[in-house]
Amino acid sequence: MFSKTLLSLFLSAFPYSTALAHPSTCPLPLSSILDYACPSPPEPYIVKPSPGKGLGVFASHSLETGSIIMREAPILRISPPDSTQGSGYPLSEVTKLVRQEFERLSPAEQSEVLGLTYHTQPGEKEKEDKDEVLGLIFRTNAYNTGSSIGLFPKIARINHSCRPNAAYYWSEKLNRRIIYASRPILRGEEISVSYIPLLLPRAERQQRLHRYGFTCSCSACDQQPRSVALSDTRRTDIHHAFQAFQPHLSLSLPRKTASSLRKARKNAASSLQLAELVEQEGLADYYAKAYRIVAISHARVEDWERATMWANKGFERKVMEDAGSAGTMEMFELTRRFVESWEEQLKNATRGQ
Ligand SMILES: *[C@@H]1O[C@H](CO)[C@@H](O)[C@H](O)[C@H]1NC(C)=O
Ligand SMILES: *[C@@H]1O[C@H](CO)[C@@H](O)[C@H](O)[C@H]1NC(C)=O
Repeated sequence: MFSKTLLSLFLSAFPYSTALAHPSTCPLPLSSILDYACPSPPEPYIVKPSPGKGLGVFASHSLETGSIIMREAPILRISPPDSTQGSGYPLSEVTKLVRQEFERLSPAEQSEVLGLTYHTQPGEKEKEDKDEVLGLIFRTNAYNTGSSIGLFPKIARINHSCRPNAAYYWSEKLNRRIIYASRPILRGEEISVSYIPLLLPRAERQQRLHRYGFTCSCSACDQQPRSVALSDTRRTDIHHAFQAFQPHLSLSLPRKTASSLRKARKNAASSLQLAELVEQEGLADYYAKAYRIVAISHARVEDWERATMWANKGFERKVMEDAGSAGTMEMFELTRRFVESWEEQLKNATRGQ
């Protein structure tokens, strides 16, 4: 049947990507086929010094978009203490909780934790006390993990970029933080994630990153003033466009008047520009969001072909981001519905001939 063919064409990403299994392919070296024993899968990354940046994490072979780079369980985890709004968690409270968990670790794990870098805020004096250092290490390196906060020593080695090539999510089910390639990564390339929201101009990003104790020199920050200005404009435009589209993301038009239809057509056209802008700026973290907007904007003008293509693109990104998330299910459902309408539209057209 036609619809089944279309559906399987568009939702083909689903079955293989949900199984978060380790890729088990073993490339056979042509030179030594006879005595070749397939080793356990090589780690996709190595940790080594990054020029001028301390340690960094690098791809040990080239990685396709969506490849899993790391899957790490928290070495320690705390429930966040109460915080007074806006002021973050009180460091002394955090330190006490971290200390308790730290005591339970093996000596090897403890030294792994103590090997992480930390950063003091301006005005804070250098810490000598081991407990205080522990608190600062936690503050510098920890991530939210569902309802708690966790420390992931391997992931903590990944540096920041304002145009990162990797992204992450927390899987409660697997009790792992997962890092995957959000763009194709070449062998030897440094792996980077973002520590901050990226739809900010460079000056604001730098300000936020100073809290982590460094000045960012990524490819988006370290370019000619004209290119920086261009990048800033793109990011600000993307930010505003995301906000402007927010009220227009339901599937039905308010009323089918000529003017609402005209407006919806205009929106569909600008949604395509938005996706292009996000891709030009290389902000893979926001591709899924942009693709969803394009899909829904085209569904609203009953352009089911484009709606299907973009919903499917969005779905493929969501599968990588977290196959089990509600957002992934939504994109699956949208693709399915759009494909059905597309099929109906084609049937109607044949009938009308
Ligand atoms: C990169 O990460 C290492 C290890 O965490 C750290 O020492 C270094 O300061 C980081 N550099 C940048 C620029 O993020
Ligand atoms: C197909 O035709 C029917 C009957 O005219 C109509 O109700 C329906 O909306 C059409 N579907 C599409 C997807 O155009």
